[in-house]
Amino acid sequence: MQQNINGKTKLLGVIGNPIEHTISPTIHNTLAKMLNMNFVYVPFKVDYNNLGKAIEGAQALNIVGLNITVPYKEKVIPSLCDIMPLAKQIGAVNTLKLTEKGYIGYNTDADGLFRSLNEHAITLRESHIVIIGAGGAARAVAMLCAREKANKITIINRTRAKAQELAHHVRRHYPTEMEVLGFYDIHGIDTFDVAIQTTPIGMSPNVLNNPVTDDSFYDKFHTAVDLIYNPGKTAFLKKAEEKGIQILNGFEMLLYQGIKAYEIWNNVEISDTVLEEVIRQIKNQNG
Ligand code: ATR
Repeated sequence: MQQNINGKTKLLGVIGNPIEHTISPTIHNTLAKMLNMNFVYVPFKVDYNNLGKAIEGAQALNIVGLNITVPYKEKVIPSLCDIMPLAKQIGAVNTLKLTEKGYIGYNTDADGLFRSLNEHAITLRESHIVIIGAGGAARAVAMLCAREKANKITIINRTRAKAQELAHHVRRHYPTEMEVLGFYDIHGIDTFDVAIQTTPIGMSPNVLNNPVTDDSFYDKFHTAVDLIYNPGKTAFLKKAEEKGIQILNGFEMLLYQGIKAYEIWNNVEISDTVLEEVIRQIKNQNG
């Protein structure tokens, strides 16, 4: 995608490692082109020990907005001048906006998931949500569910202590009922509403892997969400679909977190027409 770069072009980018598979440049450069805005968005692969220097350098170079991806969403926080409340609660940021004092940190992952769920009429409010995993992604999901007044959140994780820690973290901010389970006691789980899969299990190329192999689990709920978007249908989602469960993958979450970042950087609202064109371009470029 060729942009017209000139003396007024502003720079945006994404910092991560690895970064080669990101679709964020497609999202943002398509938006810039469609909305006739003079900026370019590029990937920055940054080594672990250089993150602080990279952020300082970005500020010095007047890079007006950055996305932050794996593995830096938590590590970047000390380099910020301020952090938004939801991002602070989650303990992770994925979007930085440049101000006179430095970068302000936002978390648009939770917003992205929320919008994606809303678009598919998947309700968190007064629902019992089961979260599979207890890492950074699970933390964003858990805080979102609690903020949106889920009735109960169950966290299933390989390392029980990590799930317990996440449950305590949620309870420090919200009164939501929390439950922690290991994969070994999954068969005893009560019926619930929505399962949200947050681990990397089943991600390409390991597409046959499924974190939940217990068949009876799939008789207990009506909606399965997987944050993975490659493949579009993980083994977990396939199994759920076979059982007649509504399924949703992480593609729209990814798209909407990008849209939200763009809106934050440019103080604009993206229309549905523009959104549809962005989706078309991403699908074109990624087969
Ligand atoms: P992210 O920020 O993407 O959530 P993370 O913080 O590394 O990544 O968390 C990964 C999650 O996937 C964790 O819940 C991890 O379980 P542990 O807490 O037991 O480490 C889970 N996970 C990753 N690989 C796994 C595997 N092979 N089996 C079971 N759980 C796994």
